[in-house]
Amino acid sequence: MKACFVKITRGLSPNPDAAVLRRDVFMQEQGFQNEFDEADETALHLTVYVGNEPVATARLLWPACAGKAWHIGRVAVRRPFRSQGWGALAVRKLEQQVKVRGGGTIELLAQLPAIPFYEKLGYTAFGGQEDDEGCPHRRMKKEIPPFFEKG
Ligand SMILES: CC(C)(COP(=O)(O)OP(=O)(O)OC[C@H]1O[C@@H](n2cnc3c(N)ncnc32)[C@H](O)[C@@H]1OP(=O)(O)O)[C@@H](O)C(=O)NCCC(=O)NCCS
Repeated sequence: MKACFVKITRGLSPNPDAAVLRRDVFMQEQGFQNEFDEADETALHLTVYVGNEPVATARLLWPACAGKAWHIGRVAVRRPFRSQGWGALAVRKLEQQVKVRGGGTIELLAQLPAIPFYEKLGYTAFGGQEDDEGCPHRRMKKEIPPFFEKG
């Protein structure tokens, strides 16, 4: 894997490259219309850079209340950079953010072709098929244990 760095922000406006990636992948490539929402204002947004080039993004939503699940979503990798591990890196980095905040369940809504990608990262599908803008999805989840410092 090439040298990279990861930028994580609270809210989307300080992370404009994440917004551009999402527009390119989800709106232009996949045809979604309702890409941006209120949750973007408070979510953690991650962008992976290879050199100076933004190649992958994902976001993490806080649990709605105690005991509820975290949500990872909007995982997108620029097409020429796919199948090189950048999508997996983006998800793992957000899992670390959950771990240092006490762990818990992460849920996500996976497009059907992306299910094997998330399964490789330890997510399990549950429930039936759900529609999002005409695109079939399934819910998936993974338990993240808390981070304990030794000593
Ligand atoms: C889905 C997506 C994020 C995967 O990112 P990526 O960087 O290409 O995936 P990675 O290279 O990190 O793959 C990690 C592992 O998953 C596997 N994998 C990735 N996509 C896969 C697919 N569609 N089917 C089967 N396996 C897949 C890889 O082979 C790799 O396996 P390995 O660890 O054994 O080598 C990317 O294809 C993408 O942006 N697609 C368009 C947007 C999208 O559909 N996002 C998901 C919305 S739910």
